[in-house]
Amino acid sequence: MCGIVGYIGKQQAYPILIKGLQRLEYRGYDSAGIALINNGNLNVYKAKGKVADLVQFAEKKDITGNIGIAHTRWATHGEPNQVNAHPHYSQSEELAIIHNGIIENYAVLKEGLKEHGYTFNSDTDTEVLIQLIEYVKKSNQVDLATAVQLALNQVVGAYAIAVIEKNKPDTIVAARKGSPLVVGVGEDEYFLASDATPIIEFTNKVVYVGDEEIVTLERDKELRIKTISNVEKTPEIKKLEMTLNQLEKGGYPHFMIKEIFEQPKTLSDSMRGRVNVEENNITLSGFIDNKGKFLNAKRIIITACGTSWHAGLIGMYAIEEFARIPVEVEYSSEFRYRKPVINKDDIVIAISQSGETADTLAAVELARSQGAFIFGICNVVGASIPRNTDSGCYTHAGPEIGVASTKAFTAQVTVLTMLALMIGREKGTLHQDRYLQIVQELGRIPEKMKMLLTQNDAIAQFAKTFTYAQNFIYLGRGYNFPVALEGALKLKEISYIHAEGYPAAEMKHGPIALISHEMPVVVIAPSAGMYEKVVSNIQEIKARKGKIISIITEGDVVVKNLSDYSISIPDTEECLVPLLAAIPLQLMAYHIAVVKGCDVDQPRNLAKSVTVE
Ligand code: G6P
Repeated sequence: MCGIVGYIGKQQAYPILIKGLQRLEYRGYDSAGIALINNGNLNVYKAKGKVADLVQFAEKKDITGNIGIAHTRWATHGEPNQVNAHPHYSQSEELAIIHNGIIENYAVLKEGLKEHGYTFNSDTDTEVLIQLIEYVKKSNQVDLATAVQLALNQVVGAYAIAVIEKNKPDTIVAARKGSPLVVGVGEDEYFLASDATPIIEFTNKVVYVGDEEIVTLERDKELRIKTISNVEKTPEIKKLEMTLNQLEKGGYPHFMIKEIFEQPKTLSDSMRGRVNVEENNITLSGFIDNKGKFLNAKRIIITACGTSWHAGLIGMYAIEEFARIPVEVEYSSEFRYRKPVINKDDIVIAISQSGETADTLAAVELARSQGAFIFGICNVVGASIPRNTDSGCYTHAGPEIGVASTKAFTAQVTVLTMLALMIGREKGTLHQDRYLQIVQELGRIPEKMKMLLTQNDAIAQFAKTFTYAQNFIYLGRGYNFPVALEGALKLKEISYIHAEGYPAAEMKHGPIALISHEMPVVVIAPSAGMYEKVVSNIQEIKARKGKIISIITEGDVVVKNLSDYSISIPDTEECLVPLLAAIPLQLMAYHIAVVKGCDVDQPRNLAKSVTVE
């Protein structure tokens, strides 16, 4: 979603800001803009489309200045066009703002401002906010930081904002509530961004701006932070672990395929220091520190969105099987509003790749207010969710740039599996021998993934056959039902082909009506787990002439002979099949999207990090 970048220092701001916007492109956006102060002018340039369109637009304009703010916009209020793109000027054109989030009471504020003679050019809530800041500043005769503070006290909603003032070329004022914001601290310079990706090239020292905090970045001065209720805060500088290489494509045509191929490594990274195959042991410090809570939990509620929700469903199968604790898996957006019953001895597990998903963050807040213990499973170190949970476990998959989540998903499943195994062993609900077998096998998964990835060319080849399809059905049972959901999601996200995931046996209650010789049906049919039942489901599809693409265990000739296409995965434990079965589905979706000419890494309308509800 919207991306924010800012720079103040001795260098030219324009190239830094443009590069920053390009680093944030992965978040998803539909227009871009930049504001620079130079020689008493506050220049704003905006364009619909990509950052490249903005660069073209700004080509012959004055792009000098060593202070500026820039933005990629994912439309909420008003269609994606040049007028609605950020930055927005205030009425006098003395101030400019960029904003990520939604000002919920913008309509009331707008009416009030109209009465004071303010007029509006755009349809955005953001323009209302900058007019309000200007109105407050002028009527109270205060500086920019104070005006921002006073204005934000009137605002209901979520925001990360950055504001600059034509006559104050030495200051950027930024603030956040709900939406992410990070400050990079360099030598005599500051950077500002929605996440650390635009910053890492310049400095590894960052300050994560907290909720309801206003930060003032001033040339040659210390960083100043105060809350919107006027409490001074001392900035806490943290060191980034990310590297620049992780943000590059490394020779691959797209981030998505790079990230699919990274999975043997990212899985090992997720397990490093946690799974010890020699000693047959798993150690998760987030569990050990809170062992009593897990062992006494009456219920576990998993809350997440999108792909993370699918990982949560797989976690439910594993936790219930091994730890015998009832699990509920909730869409964060539903959970946060449906007045759920949460007890003090419940554990709420929030799963999020980005750690910034607005609905999951709100679900965490709700669970906290009701006294539950909250455990976060996140990929981005230092993001809002890990900072707002009682304990947790990072997935360590490294930055995921492709909008379609791949390596973060398998890392989430790995962490959930480790957690389920640990609870089960400690509770005594999982027999030691089974525990040891599964731990050993978990250690072998990265190698098995490598073997599986050698089938990439073959999958690319047969994927071409299916670019005609308008619809797909994905079927699986048990642990592989969520994999079917995830496979379908991957395909629709990036190839725009409609796809539905279903529990294989449930197909008879509806989707079977859709089956014809034109309908490709992907069936996850490994030997481990309800094999015969799935074979019967395949027969039902075949009888209706559906095209069967099966994911089978190596050596299975029965399902292979029933299928039009089949992809073999190495044999493994039932609970670990999702880690392998997900890979051919990711590759298939990728290759179909590439042949269709889709923008794989930045699919239309989608955002990587959904920071508004
Ligand atoms: C967006 C992304 C998905 C992701 C979902 C949840 O829709 O495009 O890839 O699964 O948000 O995001 P989170 O960061 O909370 O896992």
